[in-house]
Amino acid sequence: MSKLDLESMPLFSEALKKFKRLRLFEPSLVVLGFFFVTVCVIFCFFYLDSRAFSKGFRISGQSERFVWLQTKGSSNGGEIPKVEFLGEKVHLCDVFDGDWVWDESYPLYQSKDCRFMDDGFRCSENGRPDLFYTKWRWQPRNCNLPRFDAKLMLEKLRGKRLVFVGDSIGRNQWESLLCLLSSAEPDKDSIYEVNGSPITKHKGFLIFKFKNFNCTIEYYRAPFLVLQSRAPARSPENIKTTLKLDQMDWSSSQWRNADVLVFNTGRWWNYGKTIRGGCYFQEGAKVKMEMKVQDAYQKSIETVVRWIENHINSNKTQVFFRTYAPVHFRGGDWKNGGSCHLETLPELGSSLVPSDNWEQFQIANSVFSAHSDALEATNFMVLNVTRMTGQRKDGHSSLYYLGPNMGPVSPHRQDCSHWCLPGVPDTWNELLYALFLKHETSRSLNSSTTAHSMNSST
Ligand SMILES: *[C@@H]1O[C@H](CO)[C@@H](O)[C@H](O)[C@H]1NC(C)=O
Ligand SMILES: *[C@@H]1O[C@H](CO)[C@@H](O)[C@H](O)[C@H]1NC(C)=O
Ligand SMILES: *[C@@H]1O[C@H](CO)[C@@H](O)[C@H](O)[C@H]1NC(C)=O
Ligand SMILES: *[C@@H]1O[C@H](CO)[C@@H](O)[C@H](O)[C@H]1NC(C)=O
Repeated sequence: MSKLDLESMPLFSEALKKFKRLRLFEPSLVVLGFFFVTVCVIFCFFYLDSRAFSKGFRISGQSERFVWLQTKGSSNGGEIPKVEFLGEKVHLCDVFDGDWVWDESYPLYQSKDCRFMDDGFRCSENGRPDLFYTKWRWQPRNCNLPRFDAKLMLEKLRGKRLVFVGDSIGRNQWESLLCLLSSAEPDKDSIYEVNGSPITKHKGFLIFKFKNFNCTIEYYRAPFLVLQSRAPARSPENIKTTLKLDQMDWSSSQWRNADVLVFNTGRWWNYGKTIRGGCYFQEGAKVKMEMKVQDAYQKSIETVVRWIENHINSNKTQVFFRTYAPVHFRGGDWKNGGSCHLETLPELGSSLVPSDNWEQFQIANSVFSAHSDALEATNFMVLNVTRMTGQRKDGHSSLYYLGPNMGPVSPHRQDCSHWCLPGVPDTWNELLYALFLKHETSRSLNSSTTAHSMNSST
């Protein structure tokens, strides 16, 4: 908590800095300072609570305690009601521009009630002591998102395939969606993997069917999205594999016809997971020994975009690309002591996106905007989550990814890259839900108006 408190209270941080300058008695003064800050924070909670009630605000069962963290001076006194994103009048609302707000009605499910989740994401069951990270809702600045309605989503998905393609963070999101959707299905045995594969530690692909809705929620592991294959014959020995930057992953024929496609990539596009392991980049028949990872990444995104333009039936398939989910290692990275296990609150206001993560985000964004005309003609949407996710330094598995009864890992082997469930990926799926419903609604409106005008003209 300390960092956030200090930031939102410049006075105390000033005072603390002064204390720090006094070398003598430093530890006890710092302790005293923290004590002081804590008392003030508690006071603020109760003060705001009572003030809210005395003004007669109706809070409908939700605690306002954390709202002061979110509004931060931009006084919400007038409470102008926001329009509903799914309302007819809303065409332009950037749902990715907004704030995290404390909401007592969250989370939307409990991990213990969800069978369709790797142990690695069950942070609370694995011993994570705080639950704050499950209580944040995303609030767009200019409109309200619909609350996730699993039953409605399943109805809209009847007879359809929704497919995630990407790396393990995509899998993180896929499992979140399985949990969200399965919460509306009382008959859990009617949900099953079509090949009988277990969910844990599975590589390749998994297809979960919701029998009563005849729909499947699928995951294909393709961390680069483009094709990784053996080195061409007679390559130098240091080339073990290559990424063919101009071809989609081999599994693309399996998901090309899905009704909803959700791509993501990013985590594997770095030196350590490519060139250092003997994986070089290839264009056509040529291995480009000198190509930089970021350039290869850009070419791969271009390939994905061209593939969407040329191989997707836009009358059928809606395509999403979820942007990079930033990591939050502090004081190192995953293998040399980087940590995030003491983070219990989001970084409200600013977004902590490491520069290399941000660079990837920009590369993808610039490819999308260069192709915006062609993409406009398809049903392509960006799940532009990088900035909002960058604020959630509190949402990672950190020490709690080994599974129930295993206990926390040692502090220098933290996972500040994957996300606890319930948690941040649920929000990505709430955004996916909102955009998917919006699209379905406009599609059915269009087809009914078309039908209507056809009827009236005959
Ligand atoms: C189930 O959905 C598939 C499309 O994914 C469709 O071809 C099939 O006819 C549906 N089956 C039933 C029983 O509705
Ligand atoms: C999509 O539908 C429109 C109108 O119904 C049709 O003209 C067009 O050819 C279709 N496109 C594809 C790729 O099927
Ligand atoms: C995504 O959000 C960033 C700001 O976080 C913005 O610069 C960018 O244009 C957005 N991209 C899209 C495709 O909406
Ligand atoms: C519906 O029609 C509007 C205008 O006619 C168009 O802009 C929009 O893209 C259409 N939506 C779909 C899903 O076809």
